[in-house]
Amino acid sequence: MSKFKNDFLWGGATAANQLEGAYLEDGKALSVADVLPGGPDRLKIAAQPDFDWTIDETKYKYPNHVAIDHYHRFKEDIALFAEMGFKCYRFSIAWSRIFPQGDEQTPNEAGLKFYDEMIDECLKYDIEPVITISHYEMPLNLITEYGGWKNRQLIDFYNKFAETVLTRWHKKVKYWMTFNEINSAAHFPIMSQGLTISNGALDKKNVFQAWHNQFVASAHAVKFGHELDSDLQIGCMILYATTYSYDANPINQLENLESQQEFNYFCADVQSRGKYPAYTDRYMKKNKVQFSDLETKPEDFEILQQGTVDYIGFSYYMSMVTDITNDAEKSSGNLMDGKRNPFLKESEWGWQIDPIGLRIALNELYDRYQKPLFIVENGLGAKDEFKNNTVIDDYRIDYLKQHIDAMADAVSDGVDLMGYTPWGCIDLVSAGTGQMSKRYGFIYVDQDDDGNGNLDRYKKKSFDWYKNVIQTNGEEL
Ligand code: BG6
Repeated sequence: MSKFKNDFLWGGATAANQLEGAYLEDGKALSVADVLPGGPDRLKIAAQPDFDWTIDETKYKYPNHVAIDHYHRFKEDIALFAEMGFKCYRFSIAWSRIFPQGDEQTPNEAGLKFYDEMIDECLKYDIEPVITISHYEMPLNLITEYGGWKNRQLIDFYNKFAETVLTRWHKKVKYWMTFNEINSAAHFPIMSQGLTISNGALDKKNVFQAWHNQFVASAHAVKFGHELDSDLQIGCMILYATTYSYDANPINQLENLESQQEFNYFCADVQSRGKYPAYTDRYMKKNKVQFSDLETKPEDFEILQQGTVDYIGFSYYMSMVTDITNDAEKSSGNLMDGKRNPFLKESEWGWQIDPIGLRIALNELYDRYQKPLFIVENGLGAKDEFKNNTVIDDYRIDYLKQHIDAMADAVSDGVDLMGYTPWGCIDLVSAGTGQMSKRYGFIYVDQDDDGNGNLDRYKKKSFDWYKNVIQTNGEEL
């Protein structure tokens, strides 16, 4: 018998800015993602002190502008998801399609119409839409004119956006998340907060202020959604990387504890418990910030309590090691740095592959929050060899199989797991490196890093494999 519930949400996940393309079509304006250049150095380039948020096509390529042209091909793509038997599809709404400048009074109807069609297309196949309201793609104008999320006015702009989409689709869409990987700002606040060195990211007060504003906005969206319909399930979404102390030295153990709290838990603690955790002052002081430095209003703390999330959504790709006494070898991956774990293998991009770490993550998160968990991203970014109209991606199958095994073990441990949406179920542009060649999909898309390709779709070996996993509710891997 399957360990997973009968209504387990098997599916896949994407984000608007990484697959839609059509970056200036039907009223859409530029978003932060549209000015990030392609290539492995994109985050380093954006972290230059003189980064000025403009597009320079003489120097860089911008793969997100065309991406995989899902904007014009979503019917074909959703039909393929349906063929795999998806029960749900996690995607995001491009804020810059709905409120192109972010500060308009009325939404862009053409943008709303696009998502009307997307949602109806999912429902046609009994696929539950799972929507991320904001995924690494705020309107650029909110950065250049308002300074990004460190500005409190962003709360009102986001509220308007969230109210618009929740009101429009709450009868059709039950599952929502307010912000993608809200905690990633600890290392790279550009994509989620619109902050980089050139507009204040080095001053951590700005990052904490931006988080506070996002927490208030997130809680407002949850409260607003529940008032529309108490059945809506609205979650947070964090980047979770299990971390281990390098050794039994209590100094490293303590460092690891603090790093778990500050990176993995801080945002979810606020969004799930409705208040700042006890270690907040310590965390802020380490970053030379006092809580009293932040601009807050008494009603913020009420709304935080009224808008706690229904479930914990998280991405899990890899684990990391904490060490301050051994000078262990360095490692990095998924927007973070740490130390190398000698017991693990790495992906081609150096991310340390750790399925047992997923079982640990599920247990730790469930123990801490006692709320259903939803793995909304997981997967292996790899270079695929396209041959005879397919890709024999046994390495991807192996990665996913081991992680699904770990999920089943965690369910046996007693964890309440709602669903699983592997990342980039169709090849798309990488967020961290802006590459097409870092592929995650069950579906290959003919497009390379330089924008060459005819964008045709092809099933990889993993396509039929995952179809069978879904059909057997995870019994046959
Ligand atoms: C998560 C993001 O960090 O991981 C996605 O939510 C991203 O947007 C995914 O694409 C994989 O990371 P990358 O850098 O390989 O695209």
